Amino acid sequence: MPDPIALVPLPRSVIWSEGVWETSAPWDGLSVGLTEDLPRTEYALSISPQGASLTAGSEAALADGRNTFAQIVTGAGGAIPCVTISDYPQYAWRGMHLDVSRHFRTVSEVETLIDAMALHRLNVLHLHLTDDQGWRVEIKGYPKLTEVGGRRGQTLVGHMSGDAETWEFDGTPHGGFYTQEELRGLVEYARRRGIMIVPEIDLPGHMQAAVAAYPNLGNFPEQQVGVREVWGISDHVLGVSDEVFDFLRDVLTQVAAIFPAPYVHIGGDECPHVEWERSAEARTRMNEWGLTRVSEIQGRFTRFAADVLAGADKRIIAWDEVLESHLPDDTVIMNWRHANGLKTATARGFQTIIATHEHTYFDQYQADPKQEPLAIGGLTTVEDVYTATLTPPKLTDEQTSLLIGVQGQLWSEYTPTAAQVEYMAFPRMCALAERAWGSPAQSWEEFEERLRGHLPRLDAFGIRYRPLD
Ligand code: ACM
Repeated sequence: MPDPIALVPLPRSVIWSEGVWETSAPWDGLSVGLTEDLPRTEYALSISPQGASLTAGSEAALADGRNTFAQIVTGAGGAIPCVTISDYPQYAWRGMHLDVSRHFRTVSEVETLIDAMALHRLNVLHLHLTDDQGWRVEIKGYPKLTEVGGRRGQTLVGHMSGDAETWEFDGTPHGGFYTQEELRGLVEYARRRGIMIVPEIDLPGHMQAAVAAYPNLGNFPEQQVGVREVWGISDHVLGVSDEVFDFLRDVLTQVAAIFPAPYVHIGGDECPHVEWERSAEARTRMNEWGLTRVSEIQGRFTRFAADVLAGADKRIIAWDEVLESHLPDDTVIMNWRHANGLKTATARGFQTIIATHEHTYFDQYQADPKQEPLAIGGLTTVEDVYTATLTPPKLTDEQTSLLIGVQGQLWSEYTPTAAQVEYMAFPRMCALAERAWGSPAQSWEEFEERLRGHLPRLDAFGIRYRPLD
């Protein structure tokens, strides 16, 4: 029979049958239980005229099953079609990243994204909490991080192109931050929906907001910089004094305590060396540390962060630039630059997450830029996400087994409102979820038709999206 209901991601095995379950309270009629008869990642869901039953090999798989059930009952009215589903994911890490630094999102807006992720059986929210344009997490003992670093006076309008004298600013302050209590609440909200929140403290670059708050954290404490009001990469990176490392220990220790996830993301991307080149202190420290090149200083930060976090039983995750230095064996690489990085990282034995900008950066245009709201550039259509070759050729089985996940990225330079974030996220996130889940492969046309059937569900959840062409 034709599928009466469009499911995204498509479960591994779905067998629809005749008959309906007549109910006005499907959640009350769902029986739920853990079982040792299923592998930990697997769930089995069956709906018959008599009722619905969900069993799973773990709490995580139970959450996946509940989220599939949610898709089936949303919009089914009082007559739910009968079905037998057996299902498990390909990747353990099915992530979405959200940049709350460039534009702050309220707790309730983040909760809406979490709800939408759960609906698609995504299970990791990577919160990019700090960057040059705003520090968004309360750190006890450093009130200026959020008082000063959490607010910028104005924001560049449009792209950062041409001479600085030609740039236009909106003249409107932008700010916001989360208290530790709010973040703990968000962690619990996500956990109940099967989602782990992984925080990112981007270091040692992308730190201008922190340096604006505490100039001693920079390379030239006598110089007062502001929170960055334009995009691009800032030269104002962390300095190398003991005070800076004490600061990092405090920040990472507190962040590790807020988020129970076994990982903390430490950034590591795009760290210019120009200030270290010019700083006498950085050169002195380099010699003390036995380094020969300024570029090696970043490795000291990575190792320091890894040591602090290991003390809190956490592993580091970092963007692929960190491959340029020696790393703890249990580092997880988040590969955003070239797909070849997946090969390099796994050849060195690191667990790796596919976050390649070519296919997973949802700040790129999703259709003809002439007809779309301003975006960073590039073009990644929903079809691209669905059909992309995500892994490079000629990986060994060992390397393939080290690819633990797929993640979409929502950088927020050009998305000042939650509505704009959702527009950029959907429906590309639906296609990404399908890839991360490892749903049975279909043609683009088949997926597009299923997606068309799925989009009214986003309407029902109040989620905005770019309509299909
Ligand atoms: C990145 O896009 N800089 C990770």
